Formats: sequence, C-alpha cells, structure tokens
Amino acid sequence: MVAILVTFKHINLLILINACLRLILIGFGVVGQNFAQLILSRSTELYNSFGIKPRVVACADKGGVVTSSEGLDLQRLLRTKRITNSVAHYDKNSRDRNILEVIQEAEAEVVIELTPTNIKDGEPGRTHIISAMKAGKNVITVNKGPLALEFPSLIELAEYNRIAFRFSGTVGGGTPILEFAKRCLKGDRILSFEGILNGTTNYILTQMGEGLTFPEALSDATTKGIAEKDPSLDIDGYDAAAKLVITSNWVLGIKSTIRDVKRIGIKNLDLSDVKMASKNGAAIKLIASCDGENLKVAPKQVSKRDPICVNGTLNAITFVSEHSGQQTIIGKGAGGMETASSVLRDLIEIRNTRSFD
Ligand code: HSE
Repeated sequence: MVAILVTFKHINLLILINACLRLILIGFGVVGQNFAQLILSRSTELYNSFGIKPRVVACADKGGVVTSSEGLDLQRLLRTKRITNSVAHYDKNSRDRNILEVIQEAEAEVVIELTPTNIKDGEPGRTHIISAMKAGKNVITVNKGPLALEFPSLIELAEYNRIAFRFSGTVGGGTPILEFAKRCLKGDRILSFEGILNGTTNYILTQMGEGLTFPEALSDATTKGIAEKDPSLDIDGYDAAAKLVITSNWVLGIKSTIRDVKRIGIKNLDLSDVKMASKNGAAIKLIASCDGENLKVAPKQVSKRDPICVNGTLNAITFVSEHSGQQTIIGKGAGGMETASSVLRDLIEIRNTRSFD
C-alpha cells in the first residue's frame, strides 16, 4: 500500500492505494529482458515517485510459461534465460502451462505483450492481446503487427472491455512520438505529418550517401544487427507502413489498416539517384506521410535543411498543426533499453489513470 495525502476543502484525506501492479510478461527477448532489468534497477524510484511496485506473476517465451502469484524472482528469471535460452527452466512445472489459460486465470492488472512483429496475420501477439482484453486486463504492447492489421477493431475492443491499451513503443521506440502528438499538441489540431519512421532504411540510405551500393549498405546493416531478421520488412517499407497506420489512427483518428497504405520501398534505388539528390542539396529518405486522408510510404528527396533530414538510424517526424505550425521530433527509433523504457512509460501512465483495488 502507498498512502497519498489529498487536501479537499481544508479537509485532509489519507488515500491508500495498492502499490502492487501484477504483470504478465509475454515474450522475453531483448525488450522483455531489458524491461525486467529496468524495473529491477528502478524499483525504489518507481515506488517513491509513482507508487508502483511491479510484480511479474507470469512470464512466457517460446519455450514455456512460468508463474508465481508471489511474483517471479527477476534476477533468477534473467539468469535462467541467459543460461538456457528459455524461461521454461525457471522451475519444474512451467512447461505444462498454456499462456492463454494464464492470461485468462492469473490475477494480474496488466498484460505486457512483447512477442515479435508479424505483419502477415499479427500472430501470436494478436491472440494474446485480444484474450487479455476479453479477460478485462489492461494491455501494453510494442508489437506492431496486430495494430497495423486491426487498429480500429482493437481500440473498439479495448473500449468495450473498459481497459487501457497502450503501445507507445510501436512508433519511435523510446522516442515519445505518439505521446508528443496526442498530448503535447492536444490544444491544437494536427492536419498532416511526414517523417522517417524506419531506422534501418535511413541507415542504408545514409551509407549510400557515403558511396556504398545498396547491397553493400544492406549487408552492413544486417551485419550490425540493425535490420530486421527478414530485411524485406524494412526495405520494402512494411515497418514504416505499420508505424504510419498506428500514428494516423491514434493521432488523426483515420480508421485505417496497412492495406490502405500506398507503399514503395527502397530496393530499386541506386547510387546515381542518391548522387543526383545530393547535387540538389537534398538526400533521399524513405518518407511515411499522411495528408489527413491518404497514407503513403515512398522514397523522396528531402532538402538537407529540412529538420527531418536526419542521418544514421535516427527517426524524425514533422507534425503540421492548425495553429502552431510545424513541430518536429527527432530521436532513436529502436534499441532494447530504449523500447523497454517506453513500456515502463506506458505502465506509469496506466498507474496514473486507472484505479486498482
Ligand atoms: N526495423 C525497425 C527500424 C526497428 O529499423 O526502425 C524498430 O521498429
């Protein structure tokens, strides 16, 4: 319990809030492990500043599910994963559990869905998210697949079940692009936006600007672990299109899915295109844009003086709003700890806006 003193009409009220937030963690890859480390290292601050005591009551990866109503020992969970490559070896009973049963039955306030993005059918994340919502549990995800394919219906399902659904890490990783547009520009009306939402293609195009051919730059991005396992997600523009759909729905209220995006990737570009742009004082960037109606991902010449003309793996997006004009936000668009911090941000937001018994 955490006690909060509220003064109302000269009367002091002592409100007791249950600080314990029980979490089900699904997916224990780079982001999941970084999130576990983050809540371990910041536990005192989380309690003192936000009244949160996170307790992971279940954790699942491809190998199995482990549960503990008392809360899993996160140090041991991380060690088990590091040594055996699965959380399943944390204890003897784990492999018998089914994650959908756990979502349904475990007492928990929040399901954190961190399985890899699947842009074809959104699975298995889609089923996890829908099951959690139907079970009345709040959901945080960084999985772009289900949102890219079914954003409007997932929001409807969340509202119907009166649960919080947060996904700030799906766009911009740790950079709060969605919150910036949704919250900081709340008093204005955003009319359109355009930006670089995929770090890998930005890296490849930056390298091509230094003289590497497309295959050389792609191989460099793959070797450095920047590109997705299936690089076509990046270079054919699917990842940027997914982020475009999420941003357009969430910020502009455009009910769309990835099927509505006109998409051209970067694999047909060659060095002569990049050199030509450079002669014009510009650079070629894979730009995701929404003019208020149409959604498009395509390579475009961007003036080097334009604030979205950033290099390397950076993301940048400019929102055009009715009264305050253009606002640009720039930051790292990926990274394990960066994205884990977005999950924690969402958790704090849920704690601040929901009441739990
Ligand atoms: N493949 C993505 C990118 C990772 O390059 O931006 C982050 O979503």
